[in-house]
Amino acid sequence: MELLELMRRRRSVRHYTGEAVPEDKLKMVLQAGLLSPSGKGARPWEFIVVRNKETLAKLALSRDNAHNQRMTAEADVAIVVLCDSQKADTWVEDGSAVMSNMHLMADAIGLGSCWLQGHLRTAADGQSADAYVRQFLHYPENYSLVASLLLGIPAKHADPYELESLPMDKVHYEEF
Ligand SMILES: Cc1cc2nc3c(=O)[nH]c(=O)nc-3n(C[C@H](O)[C@H](O)[C@H](O)COP(=O)(O)O)c2cc1C
Repeated sequence: MELLELMRRRRSVRHYTGEAVPEDKLKMVLQAGLLSPSGKGARPWEFIVVRNKETLAKLALSRDNAHNQRMTAEADVAIVVLCDSQKADTWVEDGSAVMSNMHLMADAIGLGSCWLQGHLRTAADGQSADAYVRQFLHYPENYSLVASLLLGIPAKHADPYELESLPMDKVHYEEF
């Protein structure tokens, strides 16, 4: 399928069936993340793959609202994306590029996924999401949480976008 068509179909999926994500598909999502562009090619990222239900339940409390907590606890896998802020001043952008690549790949191969923001967000206990998650994933001080990609078999999938409905008035052409 051509790339624009895949992008048109990509949607955030927040309800999962509880079935397991096949290992070969998880690997493709991780490969898509590792293929991401990064500032000066620094690739400052590390990924932690979480499949343990107890750890997913802990990760759910990295956010202070029920909506994000529910979908995180329901996911089959979370890919936690960390970046070394000492390695690249573009670490947030680099981690975000990883998230986008993985999210699009997941949708393209029939997995449901949703971005769970970490950077700048607050955990249920009032700490930053980063400080909270660090307590049980034990990553070094120079790494910071960017976001996690939640993955599961989709229980439902929102409609694709229509190319004709895109707000092309957001695009401005320089006038000569
Ligand atoms: C930077 C960023 C952070 C996001 N954080 C969350 C989040 O914490 N929880 C959530 O449910 N969705 C999150 N999303 C998903 C957006 O809500 C979603 O992309 C948007 O509503 C558009 O819907 P679509 O992805 O189906 O096109 C995030 C997306 C981005 C790009």
